[in-house]
Amino acid sequence: MSASSPAAVVVLAAGGGTRMKSKTPKVLHEVAGRSLVGHVVAAARELGPEQLVVVVGHAGEQVVAHLEATAASVRTAFQAEQNGTGHATRIGLQELGGVEGTVIVVCGDTPLLSGETLGALAVTHATDGNAVTVLTAEVPDSTGYGRIVRDPVSGAVTAIVEHKDASPAQHAIREINSGVFAFDGRLLVDALSKLRSDNSQGEEYLTDVLSIVREAGHRVGASVAKDHREILGINNRVQLAEARRLLNQRLLEQAMLDGVTIVDPASTLVDVTVTFGQDAVVHPGTQLLGNTHVAEDAEVGPNSRLKDTVVHEGARVDNTVSDSAEIGPGATVGPYAYLRPGTKLGAKAKAGTYVEMKNATIGEGTKVPHLSYVGDATIGDHSNIGAASVFVNYDGVNKHHTTIGSHCRTGSDNMFVAPVTVGDGVYTAAGSVITKDVPAGSLAVARGQQRNIEGWVARKRPGSAAAQAALAATQDSDGES
Ligand code: UD1
Ligand code: CA
Repeated sequence: MSASSPAAVVVLAAGGGTRMKSKTPKVLHEVAGRSLVGHVVAAARELGPEQLVVVVGHAGEQVVAHLEATAASVRTAFQAEQNGTGHATRIGLQELGGVEGTVIVVCGDTPLLSGETLGALAVTHATDGNAVTVLTAEVPDSTGYGRIVRDPVSGAVTAIVEHKDASPAQHAIREINSGVFAFDGRLLVDALSKLRSDNSQGEEYLTDVLSIVREAGHRVGASVAKDHREILGINNRVQLAEARRLLNQRLLEQAMLDGVTIVDPASTLVDVTVTFGQDAVVHPGTQLLGNTHVAEDAEVGPNSRLKDTVVHEGARVDNTVSDSAEIGPGATVGPYAYLRPGTKLGAKAKAGTYVEMKNATIGEGTKVPHLSYVGDATIGDHSNIGAASVFVNYDGVNKHHTTIGSHCRTGSDNMFVAPVTVGDGVYTAAGSVITKDVPAGSLAVARGQQRNIEGWVARKRPGSAAAQAALAATQDSDGES
């Protein structure tokens, strides 16, 4: 908490978000791995406020459950009817009891707002000795926003006029209300009790507090945001996509400045929780989600989606989908691999092409190169699993485990019917169905004996192309033409 830490932050998140045309409440829509309101709460927390309250209403129970699951110990207040931002603020303050000092009010639909910008607003508010400070921005298109009306002579902010209530001249104003304010707590409570709803939306506007406080003779000021894109308020899904693009760009630029190569930022998506080591490389068409970490010198992509996955130093992951997996140092994955929860690849291990793994621990240097399913398994170090092998883990009722030792060479097209244990140094024959444990150092052969019935084609398929080819082959081998 710093000297400019506010006494309270009120986050307004009760609106339904009609313009989203969604079953999901607006503030729960997601951008870069966090809900809209989650981003706002995270930025607000950077201020170190004494109290923080989120005003919920529309789908309130769902929003409260979400906040409890993601933003620990956040207080909420319930606005049963959405009578406007002023009404919502009053309900938030009632939940907190009396507030002395600075109150910051912020909308729950501005996910790009940074803690830094909120902090700058708090500092301006304190150093200028204002009763109200509004965060404004100059935008290329002010449609839908409240307009900042300034005195033509002094330049002082005199009022905020909502888009729907604005005159044609006011429509032309490009300086807009971000929806973020710093208030003197006591004056705010007093002004909120004086709000009227005689406007085009029949709502109590928080924005009217500014002119009420000013007319009562108090000092009102504005802090202009350095980057207007930060205050983008999400009202529809076009703006949602724009916010995602901008936040993604911000995250990737920071990663690049920290020494990560992002080959094509436009086709790379990351969540706010993703971290990188130096000289990590991300190829085009890649999504890195949740608590994914790409360590030093590791390479991911192209065309990969990694969620909650740790890629250790120098590993290579190509055209892969992975969820809750750990990829060891120098390991290689893909192209076209699918790693499911509980997969753990050791150092220099390999999950190759068309390989699926789940709940499997693969030892150091062990390779599963081609066309295989490895589920519920433990494989030791430096073993090789033949192409097209299946770890048969499910008997239709229960899942069972397969254990394979170190330095094994299993043949192609093996079925390991779990529960089964294969000892160290074992070889298995191609096409084997392994149903019994194999002792260390054995060769296991579990397949039918081959039988050749000579002359069968000539007898059963006379005159066919196959019979002619067979005849020609016999003549060739006899040296005749
Ligand atoms: C609001 C501002 C506008 C500003 C814009 C910035 C007002 C009257 N208007 O307009 O000046 O330019 O934000 O994005 O303040 N909410 C409640 N309860 C309510 C109504 C709204 O909690 O009764 C919440 C919403 O969930 C939302 C926020 O307040 O998070 C803003 O509401 P919204 O309807 O999006 O306001 P705008 O029309 O965008
Ligand atoms: Ca809005």
